[in-house]
Amino acid sequence: MPITFKAGNKINSSEITPEEVFNRRREFLSAAGFTMGAAAIGISPWSDVGAAVPELGAISQWSGSTTEKQTPWTQATTYNNFYELGTDKGDPARNADRLVTDPWSVEIEGECGKPGTYTLEDILKPHANEERIYRLRCVEAWSMVIPWAGFPLGDLLKRFEPNSKAKYVQFQTIIDKERLPGQRYPVLQWPYVEGLRIDEAMHPLTLMAVGMYGKNLPNQSGAPLRLVVPWKYGFKSIKSIVRISFVEKQPDTSWNLSAPREYGFYSNVNPDVSHPRWSQAKERRLDGDTKGLAALFSKKRDTEMFNGYAEEVAGLYTGMDLKTNF
Ligand code: MTE
Repeated sequence: MPITFKAGNKINSSEITPEEVFNRRREFLSAAGFTMGAAAIGISPWSDVGAAVPELGAISQWSGSTTEKQTPWTQATTYNNFYELGTDKGDPARNADRLVTDPWSVEIEGECGKPGTYTLEDILKPHANEERIYRLRCVEAWSMVIPWAGFPLGDLLKRFEPNSKAKYVQFQTIIDKERLPGQRYPVLQWPYVEGLRIDEAMHPLTLMAVGMYGKNLPNQSGAPLRLVVPWKYGFKSIKSIVRISFVEKQPDTSWNLSAPREYGFYSNVNPDVSHPRWSQAKERRLDGDTKGLAALFSKKRDTEMFNGYAEEVAGLYTGMDLKTNF
């Protein structure tokens, strides 16, 4: 995701990306005459890197899946945004082993009847996994089609008995400044936080994902637990969740804190609301046909309202001005 630095927070990508890789990228880009922004798509080395990922158990098929061509595993797991592991698209796979996911627990707090610390096993045990093939559209104007495995977030949240003051839910990613290389730099305020209105969180499309492509999530994709909110820009799909808070007031979210003019709380995919620095009307699908240089010149497709999930979710926003509440 392109970042707007606040004064005093400036950091060169040479400090985040290993120097050799950074220099190679820079040489390649200047030889090809590209700007960093235009080259954000398709230049990561799409080799299979990162930690080995075990198989996931039985998964049932979900009937609402898209039948569009899927993004290959290698592309989906080596072209990532996970700033805790670095800001280059290849960094999360390269640094995947910096994230320790065992043991893992999730803190449940706020307006609910059953707050407490739950082990990963407590969290996962009662839920059967479904495979749901969802589109995920990044605010950077590329999209992927991924077979996620997981269960409706609402089924998990209901177990903690949210009360009538629980109007929103906030999620928080692990903080580990010793091990996670990105957290040594103030590119965002750490920990990464995201939020949903309670009805968005309870919507049956909102997935608590534990796997993809029939395997457990690899670390770079947000192991062991991440959200997938398919009608919102990808940054709402927070990774490696360690805290869930039921709250009365609209909670802070990392990108909104970082650049409020550019990233709103709702962040619904909307071709009619441009990002202040680029249009959101079109997108490039990363589907394996469009890797490397070809991705830069591949044909763009029209972005759909709510990323194509309008029939299911438009009702959540009846009466709201989606330009103001972007
Ligand atoms: N979650 C955390 N904790 N840190 C991040 O940097 N990046 C977000 C989101 N979740 C991010 C995160 C952004 S900008 C996007 S587009 C998606 O993850 C990307 O998910 P993917 O890399 O698995 O495709």
